[in-house]
Amino acid sequence: MNTYATVVLAAGKGTRMRSTLPKALHPLAGEPLLAHVLNAIEAIPSTETFAHYGTFTSAHDPIVVLGHEAAQVESVIGQRCLYALQAELLGTGHALLSAQPTVDALDSLPQTVLVCYGDTPLISGEILAQVLAEHSRRQAVVTFLTGHVTGPSDYGRVVRDAEGRVQEIVEVKRATEEQKRIKEVNSGVYCFDRAWLWPTLHALPRNAAGEYYLTDLIGIASAQGCEIATVTGALEETLGINNRVQLAAVEQLLRQRILEQHMYDGVTIIDPATTYIDAGVRIGMDTIILPGTMITGKTQIGTGCRIGPGTTVDHSIIGDNCVIRNSALEEATLEDGVSVGPFSHCRPGAYLARNVRMGNFAEVKNSYVGAETDMHHFSYLGDATLGDHVNIGAGTITCNYDGKRKNHTNIGAGAFIGSDTMLVAPVNVGEHATTGAGAVVNKDVSAGAVVVGVPARVIRVSQPVESSPVESNKKE
Ligand code: UD1
Ligand code: CA
Repeated sequence: MNTYATVVLAAGKGTRMRSTLPKALHPLAGEPLLAHVLNAIEAIPSTETFAHYGTFTSAHDPIVVLGHEAAQVESVIGQRCLYALQAELLGTGHALLSAQPTVDALDSLPQTVLVCYGDTPLISGEILAQVLAEHSRRQAVVTFLTGHVTGPSDYGRVVRDAEGRVQEIVEVKRATEEQKRIKEVNSGVYCFDRAWLWPTLHALPRNAAGEYYLTDLIGIASAQGCEIATVTGALEETLGINNRVQLAAVEQLLRQRILEQHMYDGVTIIDPATTYIDAGVRIGMDTIILPGTMITGKTQIGTGCRIGPGTTVDHSIIGDNCVIRNSALEEATLEDGVSVGPFSHCRPGAYLARNVRMGNFAEVKNSYVGAETDMHHFSYLGDATLGDHVNIGAGTITCNYDGKRKNHTNIGAGAFIGSDTMLVAPVNVGEHATTGAGAVVNKDVSAGAVVVGVPARVIRVSQPVESSPVESNKKE
């Protein structure tokens, strides 16, 4: 069985990014650059091309070569790959050599080493599979991916002889004027025969810049008369990110791709130009996204929702048939049929159960709001648990913070909280209790009691009723 190991080179400092953040961790559509490359590698076995090449398997996780701020990168990327350390940043050839011990320690020793760079986030599993397949078909010593540029660029140029045979890759820094005009460039994906790779890398001389260039292996293979194969792909897929101008250009391409995928999957996006959706977002069919909306993180949205205009949703779960207008949601959970906004804010830990109607200028934080509850205007719920069918009158506030700690408020099912009620936590309001307008509730209110005033006092206790008074409690 022909097996391959994948090595991702990501040790570089990313000097041209001019950043304290390692290049591999710069976010792109909500995920670090390096994570996009790992996604592509994980997708290889499920690609169409790969299916025809069952002779190839990879029995292990990719190996990522780290160097600059290695610990920081590793802590963000986590356990989805193996890591090798490049102790000194001496170029891409040296980086690959740093992975040798890790590759050679793999359980089934790979015949092929697939190499890509951690700064080409648009790469797809399909194109990686094509390079592997061509490498296998041609029985080559080295196979690499090329692309065609239209204007000036900083990619290595692919130099071919009169018969079209690859002679070498020349980096722009060392290219002659004539070579700089070559339009075929190195996209930075390679397959090497492992048995050839290591001894050749060990013998690779330092270049004038004091570095070991991986690309110099191509010239060596050519001089040795080895079989060199190439695959040509769309350059767009292999755009490398060296600076923030390229980061923005790739971000735009990737976002367009993401939006198109959602549209093909049945999501209406009214204005793609002002809609930003991260790579990790899932959206159900027949949901409509209105202009000026940003949906980020691992957000999940159900079917038949209307989100926007002017809405941000981060790391939240939204059920089916919800309507969110001009509002902000962070780490919130909304069950089916919830409406929010305009101009409301669900902060982390907000849980709105089925058919909650949260109107304008309302804020919910770390609170469970029971099904069918109404809170239409100017209210704040923090650290609270509400039953079903509660009415939160305009201006209701849970006074949850006493200057030292956050305190909890419980409001029972069917309670009617009058306008401008202050609930001084910790406090419990029983089921079907009522607070009068402007009440300052600093003691527990028993079920069915009616309290008014400052501080609130009981004026009546209604008998528990058979048929729920919920409908009469509802206010518009
Ligand atoms: C490289 C190629 C160039 C190709 C281009 C495609 C070389 C010498 N040049 O140029 O032919 O057209 O990519 O995008 O390979 N890295 C390390 N350790 C190092 C140096 C770099 O791990 O010591 C990593 C970087 O983190 C980066 C990748 O290798 O992810 C490529 O390095 P970079 O400096 O961006 O190379 P380019 O100049 O883009
Ligand atoms: Ca690069």
